Amino acid sequence: MTERTAGNSQSLTWTPKASEIAREAGARLREFFAEGVATEYKGDVDLVTVADRTVEKLILTRIGEVFPDHGIYGEEGTREGLDREFRWYVDPLDGTTNFAHSFPQFCVSMGLEQRVPGQKQDDDGKLVAAVIYDPMRDELFVAERGRGATVNGKAIAVSRTATLAEALVATGFPSRKRHQNPNIHFYHEITLRSHGVRRAGSAALDLAYVAAGRLDGFWEFNLNTWDTAAGILLVEEAGGRVSGFAGGQFRLNSEETLVSNGLIHNELVEIFDDLFAGRDLSPLPSPEEFAAMRAAREIKAKGLE
Ligand code: IPD
Ligand code: CA
Ligand code: CA
Repeated sequence: MTERTAGNSQSLTWTPKASEIAREAGARLREFFAEGVATEYKGDVDLVTVADRTVEKLILTRIGEVFPDHGIYGEEGTREGLDREFRWYVDPLDGTTNFAHSFPQFCVSMGLEQRVPGQKQDDDGKLVAAVIYDPMRDELFVAERGRGATVNGKAIAVSRTATLAEALVATGFPSRKRHQNPNIHFYHEITLRSHGVRRAGSAALDLAYVAAGRLDGFWEFNLNTWDTAAGILLVEEAGGRVSGFAGGQFRLNSEETLVSNGLIHNELVEIFDDLFAGRDLSPLPSPEEFAAMRAAREIKAKGLE
């Protein structure tokens, strides 16, 4: 790792101020975490707390103060200045389910997109800045386009793991429409072909961890722009690759997010292709088959007593 010089960090355009906002937001999350907060349901098992809403308002106010001509698109409903050149995608608390259960894996995520005036709403602009703050570990991940990525001021880079068989990867499962999602099959298959698949519950931190070389890859179905905007830029700036599941261009409003260190990307794309086609699945015993094997083992053991 190389230490970024103060000169370098001063030359950054948006992230010094965005970092202050993310740190303040994270400090507020830490307070709520210590106090404990009541949980409400937005849907099925989609949770929200007073922390999500309060911290989104805090970020909205602070962005308004330091970047008054920027728009904001926040998970908890903020839609401001969406016709402007710059737009922040804000997830005030990524990992709400963890937070609500006192599981200390969550973060603040802020990604900045630059848009061409008059651009169609559905078209992507260019991601230009990213800040992800983990308040429990006091880790601040920062990137600006063309300037590399850092954690707490030190340069980070994706891992050099060459094959999926030697890789540690991550995924997540959506809390909405849970029954309409095939990811458990992907989880099963890739678990059997790698060192393991982590499901830590904060997509933004998963992306930051790929950028930092702590994970070799990550995929998830149906993420939102506030989950991915910052992390995608971090991975790109750390030298990684981002795409849809078929390996094509990643789009911000895409329902498919696949990122990696670049070296294992094609392998993941090929496995996804096989999975969608129902090819080459690794067999597992069904629970009934396993129960029968277990019963047979018990009978054998009793016979030997
Ligand atoms: C969730 C987390 C989780 C992912 C879910 C997201 P939230 O965000 O990123 O890791 O699996 O799909 O919705 O709701 O905690 O902000
Ligand atoms: Ca989120
Ligand atoms: Ca959230």
